[in-house]
Amino acid sequence: ICTFICSNKMLLYVLLGLMALWFVYRWFRESKRVPNKGDKYVYVTGCDSGFGNLLARHLDQLGYRVIAGIYTEKGENELKKRTSDRLTTVHLDVSDSVSVAKAAALINTLVGNNGLWAVVNNAGISTPSGPTDWLTIEDYKSMLSVNLCGVIDVTLSVLPLIKVSKGRVVNVASVFGRISPFGGPYCVSKYGVEAFNDSLRLDMTPFGVKVACIEPGFFKTNVTDTVMVKRSLRELWDRLSQKMRDEYGLDFLDSSLEMLEQRFKLLTDVDLMKVVSCMEHAVAAVHPRTRYSPGWDAKFLWLPLSYMPTCLCDRILKTYSPEIKESAR
Ligand SMILES: NC(=O)c1ccc[n+]([C@@H]2O[C@H](COP(=O)([O-])OP(=O)(O)OC[C@H]3O[C@@H](n4cnc5c(N)ncnc54)[C@H](OP(=O)(O)O)[C@@H]3O)[C@@H](O)[C@H]2O)c1
Repeated sequence: ICTFICSNKMLLYVLLGLMALWFVYRWFRESKRVPNKGDKYVYVTGCDSGFGNLLARHLDQLGYRVIAGIYTEKGENELKKRTSDRLTTVHLDVSDSVSVAKAAALINTLVGNNGLWAVVNNAGISTPSGPTDWLTIEDYKSMLSVNLCGVIDVTLSVLPLIKVSKGRVVNVASVFGRISPFGGPYCVSKYGVEAFNDSLRLDMTPFGVKVACIEPGFFKTNVTDTVMVKRSLRELWDRLSQKMRDEYGLDFLDSSLEMLEQRFKLLTDVDLMKVVSCMEHAVAAVHPRTRYSPGWDAKFLWLPLSYMPTCLCDRILKTYSPEIKESAR
């Protein structure tokens, strides 16, 4: 018995040692950054606020030549005040192909023969979100045109320039591109971004272009602003037919709003740098990862749930969803 315990202990030490070695090797490999930052142009969409704004400022501080896609004039003025003159702003509505093409033409003249080092597809919206049968096809189309078609259009518009530099495409999806715990177009759009990301990664490998996907959990930005999200849900409710409202019952709306408030309060992380560091790594590391899942809720709640058997996952999600009126079931 003693020999058995000793040999197992030995095996455990060897395994722990190998694991430690692997972590040190990974840390060392991942800590290397690409050279000549000052010659590298990085195009970031949705820089008015949130992750995009912080990333633009962070990359500017690190010495990259940032091309910041800006949606509103107010966002542009504020970003310019806080950055160096290396940063260029470009007006961009990712849902409008003319605007996307204009931005790409400007970028083409800026970057010259070096090409574009990276594009970060960050622009996105989160409303309207609600039960699927509360929504219209126009609700779906309007969000997909920003969150999914916008990502594809922007990528295609600059891909030839990225191939020149053997650079990067960084797509901001969401952990809700891996699991769909609520209705509406948001998860649909993010699952689409994941699929686009994965096929692009394979297609671009022979050209030396690296493709990475960022899948954050809940973070405190405009897209998770409870006042805005609750207002949007109430607007969806207000436009429902009386028959549909009776089916769900008024309690459903009230408990949805209450649950939303509680869930956002519990899960939302205020440290946006957790996401921005992943974006920076995807842009600047010599060996970027293919996927990043910043946020404790993404790592320890949503991703494990997404790997569970569907019946178990559905049961857990249903337990934490608002109840529909008894008579409608
Ligand atoms: N916050 C989270 O918890 C979370 C989690 C997972 C994934 N994400 C994703 O992260 C990305 C960034 O969002 P965020 O959280 O940083 O929220 P945010 O502060 O609202 O940032 C989104 C940015 O996209 C811009 N935008 C909206 N529509 C646009 C359009 N048609 N064309 C160009 N730009 C447009 C917004 O401009 P305005 O501010 O002027 O409207 C804003 O600057 C989004 O793709 C979002 O889905 C966020």
